[in-house]
Amino acid sequence: MTLIKDITFTQADIAKLEAEYANKRPQEILAFALKQFDNITISFSGAEDVVLIDMAAKIKRNIQIFSIDTGRLHPETYQFIDKVRKQYRVKIDVIFPDAAEVEGLVKEKGLFSFYKDGHKECCGIRKVKPLRRKLATVDAWITGQRKDQNPATRATVPVIQIDSAFSSGDRNLIKFNPLANWTSAQVWQYIHANEVPYNELHNQGFISIGCQPCTRAVLPNQHERLGRWWWENAADKECGFHEINLISNNN
Ligand code: ADX
Ligand code: SF4
Repeated sequence: MTLIKDITFTQADIAKLEAEYANKRPQEILAFALKQFDNITISFSGAEDVVLIDMAAKIKRNIQIFSIDTGRLHPETYQFIDKVRKQYRVKIDVIFPDAAEVEGLVKEKGLFSFYKDGHKECCGIRKVKPLRRKLATVDAWITGQRKDQNPATRATVPVIQIDSAFSSGDRNLIKFNPLANWTSAQVWQYIHANEVPYNELHNQGFISIGCQPCTRAVLPNQHERLGRWWWENAADKECGFHEINLISNNN
């Protein structure tokens, strides 16, 4: 399908594109996304995202990348972000939460309120609000989500969708998930074959990595999502970044 740049995609356009691209290789999905949108950004936090950065860098120069720094990341994650910046010679837009909101939460409830009353409030302030601010400045975004990351919330993640959770007014924000159909094993094959840098924590039993207090290593053969917010139900293990998954699951 050939599309003209800067058109507003309707639900019907996206449904057609999803049908056309659902079984294509991640590189083809990325190439389409980068060709179609000038103002498009890759959201970067983990191993999958560097696979996307590696693929994108082979397609186009000057790709936009952002990462939300919640203030609670592991030291290894900060090292990893900088390693990626240097290796690919890219600018990474590191985005922080609103200082007054973080200060208010911590003053009121301390630094570990999420163990007591759930992660939603802290994630809302530290992750989702800065994400909303960032996404208001772009036409489309690219994520490293995969279906097998969380059977409870990601089993039906499409390769392209309208992100209604972050769209506003008559502006439809488009979300690409080029690795939706890849397995974790495929991601790691790509990393090793292409010498893609990865977070040192993966050598210590960590698979899915988020903030330090809410992430732990998993045992061999345990599902990767068990390492995230382990005190909560599987269906609640979304920080709000991918709220559209919860909306879609409820349809
Ligand atoms: S989360 O919602 O549970 O935190 P997860 O860690 O599985 O998400 O990552 C899925 C995708 O969300 C990543 O591949 C990345 O595209 C995006 N993402 C998650 N956390 C961040 C972050 N802090 N900054 C930028 N993108 C992120
Ligand atoms: Fe807060 Fe944990 Fe969410 Fe990070 S993952 S923003 S520390 S609740």
